Amino acid sequence: MLRKTFAALALACTATLALSQSPLSLTIHTDQQVSPVSPMLYGLMTEEINYSYDGGLYAEMVRNRTFRSDWSGVNYWFLVEDGNSAAKMAPDHETGPSEALKNSLKLEVEKADAQSQAGVLNVGYWGMAVKPGTTYKGSLYAKSSGDMGPVTVSLVSDDTGKALATAAVSGVSGEWKQYAFTLKTAAAPQSVSARNHLAITVGRPGTLWLQLVSLFPPTYHDRPNGFRIDLMEKLASMHPAFLRFPGGNYLEGDHINERFEWKKTIGPLVDRPTHRSPWNYQSSDGMGLLEFLEWCEDLKMQPLLAVYAGYSLHGEHVNPGADLEPYVQDALDEIEYVTGSADTKWGAERAKDGHPEPFKLTYVEIGNEEWFDRSGSYDARYAQFDKAIRAKYPNLQLIATAPVKDSKPDVIDEHYYVRATQNFHDAHHYDPQQSTTPGQQRWDGGHYDKVDRNGPKIFVGEWATREGMPTPNMGAALGDAAWMTGLERNSDIVLMASYAPLLTNVNPGGLQWDTDLIGYNSVKSYGSPSYYAQVLFGSYLGDHTLASKAEGAGDKFFYSVTASATNKKVYLKLVNAASTPQPIDIDLQGAKLAPRAKLVTLSAKDTQATNSIDQPNLLKPVESSAAVAGTHLRHTIPQYAIEVLVFDQQ
Ligand code: AHR
Repeated sequence: MLRKTFAALALACTATLALSQSPLSLTIHTDQQVSPVSPMLYGLMTEEINYSYDGGLYAEMVRNRTFRSDWSGVNYWFLVEDGNSAAKMAPDHETGPSEALKNSLKLEVEKADAQSQAGVLNVGYWGMAVKPGTTYKGSLYAKSSGDMGPVTVSLVSDDTGKALATAAVSGVSGEWKQYAFTLKTAAAPQSVSARNHLAITVGRPGTLWLQLVSLFPPTYHDRPNGFRIDLMEKLASMHPAFLRFPGGNYLEGDHINERFEWKKTIGPLVDRPTHRSPWNYQSSDGMGLLEFLEWCEDLKMQPLLAVYAGYSLHGEHVNPGADLEPYVQDALDEIEYVTGSADTKWGAERAKDGHPEPFKLTYVEIGNEEWFDRSGSYDARYAQFDKAIRAKYPNLQLIATAPVKDSKPDVIDEHYYVRATQNFHDAHHYDPQQSTTPGQQRWDGGHYDKVDRNGPKIFVGEWATREGMPTPNMGAALGDAAWMTGLERNSDIVLMASYAPLLTNVNPGGLQWDTDLIGYNSVKSYGSPSYYAQVLFGSYLGDHTLASKAEGAGDKFFYSVTASATNKKVYLKLVNAASTPQPIDIDLQGAKLAPRAKLVTLSAKDTQATNSIDQPNLLKPVESSAAVAGTHLRHTIPQYAIEVLVFDQQ
């Protein structure tokens, strides 16, 4: 009873609060264009962090397919000794199938028969998702000491020990050779779980060496060596215009010899040596330069290629001048691999790798966060890259990643990782009346620059409201949305922007950076509230901004209004970061409007509300419509809400 009374009281208070919010008025002049909106405004930033590719987007199911080992043995591989069989396994550094992969796994089988098989198993990336009625395509390199009979490859349930799909690989000999196999699961009954592994066994004694064991589920657009379908679909819904790759810190590596060496990431997988990423794990390099470009092709994004500029994270740098020349040449070769026709040296390599058509490339970024280079060498390093690239490719737009004095980059890349309150403030950072004081300290120890409307264009290449782990909560999404209203309003100078990091595997140990846009395990994935904010902002974007004025808005209300000349739509984005609903009187002067506007709402009861791998759909945009009377709309935006109103002009 008492509880009921309190509930009724609380409801009355909320209602009073809601009613007591006086309406703000928002006047939009549909016949007054203010500035253009960049068609490239929203894109993706990506790198190998949080198991973004291996154990993430790159659909490979076998973890440590190249048998790297440490003091504890061969990571993620275990011995199988069924029944009476007896065997041992060890890393072998004396034999492998290629120059790049000179090692292998050696399995010495002392005792085995058809019923008591011996072999090895791989546990995958926190398990292996096995679905009913599905075909898995695999391959392995093998050689043996003698005739060991067929090698059996199976997907096995951890819980029952039963094989869910099996294939036989025959003809393994004393020479290294690649063998392909297919594993097909039964249509039903079988629930989708990650509690499965891959077993490779034999039924006769002898020695078997293995290398590059690979297994793929069906991939997006059926690409061999391709991408996870669920994640690609989520990315497609963001309508990204570009992909910034390969980093981020991943481009630079901790040390110069751990940088992203693109030439070691192309061609057959057996020719890719793999490398250590600065996020402390080995990258398989299955996601190489061509795979990044194909990712762009699949999602109709423009590649934004970041080239290594001679600085690595632990402070090493290459001196400008003769020492830097090989790195500059490497960047020129890389651009040729991307854009050159098949009769150029590197264009021919790309054709050999299966893609004769050159890719369109407009933006090349020189390095990453070069303000961290305390040696002060970036100015000269940038100038050397700038001169060489412009001489060969005069049409490319070049992006500097720190301010430079001796050259004129077309674009400057700025990064912002902040809290929601900072983003509410920074929503006006790029406005002509700048909200951040030049000289004010930034998250990275640097300082806010004065926004120069006549200087280089701006690429906000990494940004995020960092609240929530592993993925952002609604409070963060509100900070993001407030910030994005500022990007849209100022898209005459803000050419492009990309949230970072994009992806995280949510398993224990999967994450190196808190607050990532999309979370997943091997079975499923989910979008955070910030992800849905990206989807809303990317899906509803005009080609110019309109003159507008808000009166009576508090400091928790943000909006942007863009319109599309081609489809005659006005897109109004509203952000209410307050705990109470906000009534708004909207007037679209000068427009003849359809009687209903589309309304899309993402809102929550609390800033801490969020989605997770187990509750992926708690917060999602909901579509409805709102009545328009002439040019007017009286609307109440809920508490903690991001909304888009789409008006059709008749
Ligand atoms: O997005 C995570 C990291 O943040 C990037 O790798 C780096 O560029 C930045 O410091």
